[in-house]
Amino acid sequence: MSDLRVAFFDSKPYDMKSFDSENQSYGYAIKYFSEKLNPDTAPLAAGYDAVCAFVNDDLSAGTLEKLCASGVKLVALRCAGYNNIDLKVAFGKIHVARVPDYSPYAVAEHAVALMLSLNRKIHRAYYRVRDNNFSINGLLGFDMHGKTAGIIGTGKIGQVLIKILKGFGMNVVAYDLHPREDIAGEAGFSYTTMDKLYAESDIISLHCPLNTETYHLINNEAINKMKKGAMLINTGRGQLIDTAALVEGLKSGTIGFAGLDVYEEESEYFFEDKSDEIILDDILARLNTFNNVIVTSHQAFFTKEALGNISSTTMKNIAGFFKDGSIPNEICYRCGKTPCPRKDKTQSSCF
Ligand code: NAI
Repeated sequence: MSDLRVAFFDSKPYDMKSFDSENQSYGYAIKYFSEKLNPDTAPLAAGYDAVCAFVNDDLSAGTLEKLCASGVKLVALRCAGYNNIDLKVAFGKIHVARVPDYSPYAVAEHAVALMLSLNRKIHRAYYRVRDNNFSINGLLGFDMHGKTAGIIGTGKIGQVLIKILKGFGMNVVAYDLHPREDIAGEAGFSYTTMDKLYAESDIISLHCPLNTETYHLINNEAINKMKKGAMLINTGRGQLIDTAALVEGLKSGTIGFAGLDVYEEESEYFFEDKSDEIILDDILARLNTFNNVIVTSHQAFFTKEALGNISSTTMKNIAGFFKDGSIPNEICYRCGKTPCPRKDKTQSSCF
């Protein structure tokens, strides 16, 4: 056993199973809290060395200040995205690590699951047949082959998705703030402008991070540039889409299908069983009324392989910081990279 103490927030049974198994090699004292981390729950971490947080934990200034004051040294995010932490406030006070690459396949494959389900109306067909309604009226789909997919963000997940879609025989166009022309030729896609991507794509899929530049990237203006009846897939972050504008786009038919694994106000609902409650979020409730919309509850990451990689990398990050003095996947506020490229023999990190 080690005397290292980790406060684990927003824990679910599958997290405990995966982390307890991984912790057999470490022996840390992990306390699982079902509460989400926020300024009100941060005092629960008093006396702990590290906190482990997830996508809907609130790591804004109010939380970070309380964590620092109570002696917590490390925030170990068990996710890839880090839009929920104020790195500017964290800088110089508390170290932050994440899991940059646990399974791009999990997320890309879920994006494809949403595309195929929406196109071939599997969600509707399932309920019809269960009700002995064997009619296929209204279930007409389209061949993916020969259609155009527009991928926004050609990082790890975007690249895996492109390979899968090329396998269907789709044309792929992409937009990235930092285009990788070196991979485009070999992978058989081309970079274009956002406007052309909107105009040409039958299916648009979002794989860029959420930040100030990408907040509400898909708004009224963007939707009005899209091909009539386009399919929009979001497995990135909810706030990439102005959901009120999406609802209008669905009502007008500009958006023909929407597959959403993330939603801008998801933290109140996603990952929780609310089946005995009334949904007070009118936009979420409205989305659930469209028969051409599928909402999943931020489950794109949720495969056996991804969970295993998340727990092993998170534990390595914690061990690296407390035992070896360097965190393999520290998020650097100054350079914004993971790992920090400035980390070398003379400088332990940008921190
Ligand atoms: P990555 O860092 O490998 O790739 C992101 C790409 O987006 C990079 O190529 C970057 O240059 C590009 N980019 C940055 N700003 C952009 C902008 N303004 N416009 C267009 N492109 C831009 O990240 P990865 O692993 O591919 O993940 C992408 C996102 O997916 C994450 O940021 C996270 O928010 C989300 N995600 C969602 C999961 C889920 O379960 N639904 C699980 C894991 C990640």
